[in-house]
Amino acid sequence: MQLEIVGLESGYGKVTVLHGVDLTVAAGEIIVVLGPNGAGKSTLMKSIAGHLQPTSGSVRLDGKEVRGQLAQDVSRLGIGYVPQENNVFREQTVRDNLRVASLAFPDAQDRVASVFDRFPILAERATQRAATLSGGERQTLAVSSALIADPKVLLLDEPTAGLAPLFVGQMVEWVSELAVAGMAVVWVVEQNPEKILAASTRTYLLEGGRSTAEFDSAELLEPGRLQELLLEEREEEPGESPAT
Ligand SMILES: Nc1ncnc2c1ncn2[C@@H]1O[C@H](COP(=O)(O)OP(=O)(O)OP(=O)(O)O)[C@@H](O)[C@H]1O
Ligand SMILES: [Mg+2]
Repeated sequence: MQLEIVGLESGYGKVTVLHGVDLTVAAGEIIVVLGPNGAGKSTLMKSIAGHLQPTSGSVRLDGKEVRGQLAQDVSRLGIGYVPQENNVFREQTVRDNLRVASLAFPDAQDRVASVFDRFPILAERATQRAATLSGGERQTLAVSSALIADPKVLLLDEPTAGLAPLFVGQMVEWVSELAVAGMAVVWVVEQNPEKILAASTRTYLLEGGRSTAEFDSAELLEPGRLQELLLEEREEEPGESPAT
């Protein structure tokens, strides 16, 4: 199983945001997408998932072109997507969120039950509206909802942003298990990516709507290397104080 993105161009109406992105991920692999705010990371995820229609380039799943398909069809083909924002139905209960995600499957009840087995905290919160969940609980629900369809590829758009290191560690463990079981994972990260980098094989740098560099993630974990890279990015963003 392989997802291959070649020369992807995409945007909003007349505004082009992605000017050519190349990326591949294979079964069993976690890859990281890193880049400054506004680089186009979320636009890339939306464009792969069929929530935005790319204007040029390829999205190939096992060699088959899926670019241009509707989001629901992309999902059916095995690409799961956890958006950065609005990734749960806030006014629905936890159980109803999972029910909606499993609607297309004859064994929907079993699928919901297995989420509750895996995450007792979600079972405890089953009748609570998603809006009332903690940040970590909400992201657990969002990722669980995407996993209910048993995707081959999982697109994660900053699911741990702003959350405690303990939760980041748990998410890394969970996603690593999925990769070991054969899933291909694309993980968009922003701040404090070290734990996620350590669990990944390769990292793509996205800048100005282009994939500008690819690294072995291990290389970015060498002392100072990541800071150096992020500082290079920041040189184009005056006004922001560098991380200490
Ligand atoms: N719905 C939209 N309509 C028009 N322009 C948009 C829309 N969403 C995003 N953009 C623009 O596209 C560019 C890339 O945004 P995108 O959200 O993909 O960046 P990002 O790398 O995910 O940033 P962040 O790290 O803040 O999440 C930005 O200039 C943004 O203003
Ligand atoms: Mg984003």
